[in-house]
Amino acid sequence: MAASPHDDGMAEIVISSLPLETRCPPFLLRQYGGFWIPEPLLPVVAAAQTRFKPRPSDVLLASFPKSGTTWLKALAFATLNRVKHPPRHPGHPLRRCNPHDCVKYLEWDDQGDVLEALPSPRLLATHIPYTLLPARVTAVDGGSGGRIVYICRDPKDALVSMWFFTKKKLADEAYTIEEAFELFCDGRAFYGPQWHHVVGYWEASRRRPEEVLFLRYEDMLRDPAGNVRKLAEFMGCGFSGEEEAAGVVQDIVEICSMDALKNMEGNKSGSQRNFRNETFFRKGVAGDWSNHLTPAMAERLDKIAEEALRGSGFTF
Ligand code: A3P
Repeated sequence: MAASPHDDGMAEIVISSLPLETRCPPFLLRQYGGFWIPEPLLPVVAAAQTRFKPRPSDVLLASFPKSGTTWLKALAFATLNRVKHPPRHPGHPLRRCNPHDCVKYLEWDDQGDVLEALPSPRLLATHIPYTLLPARVTAVDGGSGGRIVYICRDPKDALVSMWFFTKKKLADEAYTIEEAFELFCDGRAFYGPQWHHVVGYWEASRRRPEEVLFLRYEDMLRDPAGNVRKLAEFMGCGFSGEEEAAGVVQDIVEICSMDALKNMEGNKSGSQRNFRNETFFRKGVAGDWSNHLTPAMAERLDKIAEEALRGSGFTF
């Protein structure tokens, strides 16, 4: 199978020739550009190079899977659309729909003209690593590719979250945390290595702070309101004095909180391409890894990430 050629002269990707990983259910992974990408998405990742037409007003929410994507989608959607959809309103879309229904993925949804048909400003999401994003998004030419918000999470919690998510999908098939851990340490996870995914966006946020905002899941848990304000400023829709006085920031934090989202009808049923909506909401805390990884496993993973990132200036 061959994916579409890139418009920057890169050779056509012959998917069957790329290194294959079969042990990371539920997808087969192929190594491309240094990352393990779910095989079914490779044609879209490649085609996005030519087909995706960024707009200066776009906001692209980027993340390594299981790092708080669903939460970031909810917060950004509620913040950007707060005039049209006041967060306290009983008919707010987040009370009926999963956040993934409100914010489309670049690599799932750019199959036809779906993204092209969305009105501006578009709020989109992606798990694509920074170096594999369409060149028009990352071009340093004055921001014609719009803005990017990245959410980063401790790799140990991302691993544990991914393991639970996968297990729910697998039903009865055995898949131990030890198996998932070994693969993760070797960078073999959806869009892994996780640390390379994170550092790509972190470096971009240092080079292009006006265009790339780097958030941390753990900071957001500690100070959700402060991070919502930061997000709003970055997206060009900072809160007015009246909104602050009316408690709009707190309303957004509340409607997007784990407890609120988990209990909304739209999230108790339905699914996202075979992933049940309820599986996107588990504990939502920092440090749950300590209940599932031994201290030796944690130390080993920390060390792998630390060594891989040495010299970058980034630390988890
Ligand atoms: P845990 O499995 O550790 O609980 P993603 O959205 O990228 O798939 O990430 C899923 C993780 O984010 C899960 O972590 C999930 O519980 C957590 N999460 C989902 N909604 C959240 C929210 N509103 N607030 C905080 N964490 C949330």
